[in-house]
Amino acid sequence: MTAQRRLGIFTLAAMLGLAWWSLHLMRQGGAGLSPLGSAAASNLPRALAVHTQARAPMPPDPTNRFADDARAVALGDRLFFDESFSSSGTVSCATCHDPEHAFTDGKRVAQGEGTGSRNTPTILGAARRRWFTWDGRADTIWSQAAEPIEQPTEHAFDRTRFAVAIRDDPGVRRLWEAACGALPAALDAVPKGLEAACGALPAALDAVPKGLAARPALADGGESDAMAQSWAQLSAEQRAAIDLVFSASMKALGAFQRTLDMPLSAFDRWADAVGQGTVSMDDEAAGGIITPAARRGWLLFAGKANCIQCHGGREFTDGEFHNLGLPGPDGRLGGDPGRRDAIARLKADPFSSAGTFSDDRDGPEARLVRSLKDDPETWGQFRTPSLRGVGLTAPYMHDGRFATLAEVIAFYDTLEGAIALDHHREAVLQPLGLTSDERADLEAFLVALSPEAMPLRRDSAR
Ligand code: HEC
Ligand code: HEC
Repeated sequence: MTAQRRLGIFTLAAMLGLAWWSLHLMRQGGAGLSPLGSAAASNLPRALAVHTQARAPMPPDPTNRFADDARAVALGDRLFFDESFSSSGTVSCATCHDPEHAFTDGKRVAQGEGTGSRNTPTILGAARRRWFTWDGRADTIWSQAAEPIEQPTEHAFDRTRFAVAIRDDPGVRRLWEAACGALPAALDAVPKGLEAACGALPAALDAVPKGLAARPALADGGESDAMAQSWAQLSAEQRAAIDLVFSASMKALGAFQRTLDMPLSAFDRWADAVGQGTVSMDDEAAGGIITPAARRGWLLFAGKANCIQCHGGREFTDGEFHNLGLPGPDGRLGGDPGRRDAIARLKADPFSSAGTFSDDRDGPEARLVRSLKDDPETWGQFRTPSLRGVGLTAPYMHDGRFATLAEVIAFYDTLEGAIALDHHREAVLQPLGLTSDERADLEAFLVALSPEAMPLRRDSAR
């Protein structure tokens, strides 16, 4: 049998299976759904069927040859918590992505060496995304790490001092060389001339002076600054060696973050029980697994309130970008261009999946980046966040404008203050007119998406 036919038969079997599930769930759910519109009601069994399937494993990352290497994870773990890679020696990734705050910081906007303009998302489950950050200006989890290191409001550091610190710290250097030496077959992808780097730090790094702060001009930095001038004065070989060490270290950070998945929630257990047939979808007590309010909240979420339009699927996100018409401080459309600026930056990024340092420069991810078009319609769009763990990650939205889930729900309910720009704001958002009980139910559902156990605590990490 050809692979194609096998795939065809598999697809058919999968479709029949899904149809059977839908019928099964519809039979279970039918009676309890009367308060919802019929279109919304017919949506529900399918929406729940998604959650009764096994959760997909972490998707592979062919752009990172270290992605699943335990030695790279050990290096990434070390780098993630190390505060010496910052200008004041007090900021690490964990300053903002704090394991004790579900890998966020609990602040409205991020606070590192300076004050940023965006809210810190959790990194639990982040490695599952296709685009990274609120505007998607990174397309791999490893390349995303390059920016905070050099961003003046975050680590305010630079790749040169970063690479030299690895060179000069025997402990980190040992971890780096162990991780790098582990990868024989994939070495093909190392840029020409740098093959010798694996197994040992590149020799060109030896002569780079300790304390020299140097990096290319920042993507949003405008004028060339002192660090960019120092960068231009390094030899091409030194710059290549630094970039290699920097990108390999980012890949180790990526490998570490891939181990931090968002754990499953009580809602998953309930959906699973419904799927197994041990609890009926219209059992108001939800088998005691989630609260009755959370169950009603789910019916609203997937039904009348139609949140699944964007927050659908197993991870509660469509992975795409939308403009919700959130007003700026002056009541006009906010000033953050969001997705509009991110596309050009991503295409120019040497660390993207299509860039020099990717281990899969011609893969599907890279082709997608090359095919992205600069589009004015993307102005003010932000990525739909996953809602897993959302009860633990206040404040909310890209600028942290809402302190509580109740405020977020009030916004969707009334769309008060929303800018009705006909061609920019999503046509799907309509005021919902919920009762106060319904708002509380929605909130209870969102809270039921909290992880039941946390993967890493600071005491176990360090
Ligand atoms: C000063 C606080 C701060 C520090 C330090 C920081 N981050 Fe972040 N992180 C943020 C903010 C804010 C965003 C969102 C940025 C945006 O959308 O513009 C973010 C986004 C991310 C994302 C994307 C998550 C997603 O869902 O798309 C990842 C991954 C990440 N950071 C990892 C790291 C790593 C690794 C480090 C250390 C090298 C780090 N961060 C250091 C604040 C910080
Ligand atoms: C048109 C797509 C769309 C629909 C429909 C939608 N959302 Fe969102 N949601 C988004 C986007 C995009 C953001 C991020 C917006 C931003 O930061 O500017 C978001 C943000 C959120 C957040 C904040 C999460 C965080 O980590 O900050 C919550 C909570 C949320 N939505 C819940 C809901 C609920 C509940 C509904 C249904 C009432 C809903 N959403 C309907 C697209 C949507």
